[in-house]
Amino acid sequence: MTNEIIVKLPEENYPIVIGEGVRQRFSELFKKHGQGRAFWLSDKNIVAAWDENLGGLCSNSHTDIIVMPPGEEQKQIATIERVCQILVTMGAERGDTLVACGGGVVGDIGGFAASVYLRGIPCVQIPTTLLAMVDSSIGGKTGVDLPEGKNLIGSFHQPAFVLIDVEFLKTLNGRQFRSGFAEVVKTALIGDASLYRSIEQGADDRCFQRDAATLIETITACVKFKADIVAQDEKEAGLRRNLNFGHTIGHALEALGNYAALSHGEAVFWGMTVAVDLSVQHGSLNHEIGQTIHQLLERYLKVIPAIHFRPKEVMDLILNDKKTKAGKPHFVLLEDIGKPIVTDQISNVILSNALEHLKHRMKRIKESS
Ligand SMILES: NC(=O)c1ccc[n+]([C@@H]2O[C@H](COP(=O)([O-])OP(=O)(O)OC[C@H]3O[C@@H](n4cnc5c(N)ncnc54)[C@H](O)[C@@H]3O)[C@@H](O)[C@H]2O)c1
Ligand SMILES: [Zn+2]
Repeated sequence: MTNEIIVKLPEENYPIVIGEGVRQRFSELFKKHGQGRAFWLSDKNIVAAWDENLGGLCSNSHTDIIVMPPGEEQKQIATIERVCQILVTMGAERGDTLVACGGGVVGDIGGFAASVYLRGIPCVQIPTTLLAMVDSSIGGKTGVDLPEGKNLIGSFHQPAFVLIDVEFLKTLNGRQFRSGFAEVVKTALIGDASLYRSIEQGADDRCFQRDAATLIETITACVKFKADIVAQDEKEAGLRRNLNFGHTIGHALEALGNYAALSHGEAVFWGMTVAVDLSVQHGSLNHEIGQTIHQLLERYLKVIPAIHFRPKEVMDLILNDKKTKAGKPHFVLLEDIGKPIVTDQISNVILSNALEHLKHRMKRIKESS
């Protein structure tokens, strides 16, 4: 089974192809949607795990892959300069294309480099992590970090096409996979009640076992949802904000753990439990539905690290966030499964109580697992 979703934007449409082994269709898709020669960017881990197969895909491409070291530390402006210098050395021209084959880090760097190299060349996204497949490769956001914060420099640069081969997930470790699954659960909660039901009924186990058919179905649902939001709100004026469900608290926890104790997805899983509590507290979500969501989230939280934190530290991080408008944080809450609302009407007292509650929840889940 291969699925194809078309992202419809005012200036252009492009396809996202999802399937098992679909990387073999690279040449065919490139002929149709690519330009010039393909210059590949990837990281050491991916090349180590997939070298032969990637080599096979590059037959109509420049033969040398630009291989960068893995890791978020690479997301800095110096890497963009290096990638562009290598492109010059390789002779990449205006009419050529950069193919970013990797996780969100390679995707963000590749997309950004493509958007500025020779004032912009096309790029193709070939995501190899679950997070990149359901989230970062869709939507055209690219960028790098500054010492002052994550993703502070970047651009919008839509790819010529996105090729999602679920086979890449076979070599992704369990922690990385679970972390990406946080965005799948997030998508279900904010936008797809039927995806939520299928996860509840065991699609998550089949995904964790890397069952190709379930992965294709699940990833397709997430891609459809995100592609639709991007089509309606390409430059993040409003609707895209719903995608931040679980992320306001999640980002703060991730930062408190120095981006090491908790991965992004792990922090978002904890953040989503708080968002559910806040939704119930705020009166928008029925208590029973809140309980069933907590039960589902606990399946993953049992194997996710907990961190020590003081609620005040989390509050300070949220209230001082540069992106917080007029000092009032916005929270994405739920009215029902699949129905998000955005509010800035969460008092500090309610927030502080919810964070106390999170501490107890972390303790209870860790003691019982
Ligand atoms: N642009 C966006 O809209 C957007 C959205 C969400 C996240 N992001 C960004 O995405 C980044 C995180 O992405 P990520 O979680 O994919 O991390 P990542 O790119 O660092 O990949 C995680 C690890 O898995 C390895 N890896 C990748 N694919 C593999 C495979 N198939 N087999 C074995 N190992 C593999 C990588 O080498 C790396 O060590 C962050 O920088 C974040 O800011 C961007
Ligand atoms: Zn996220």
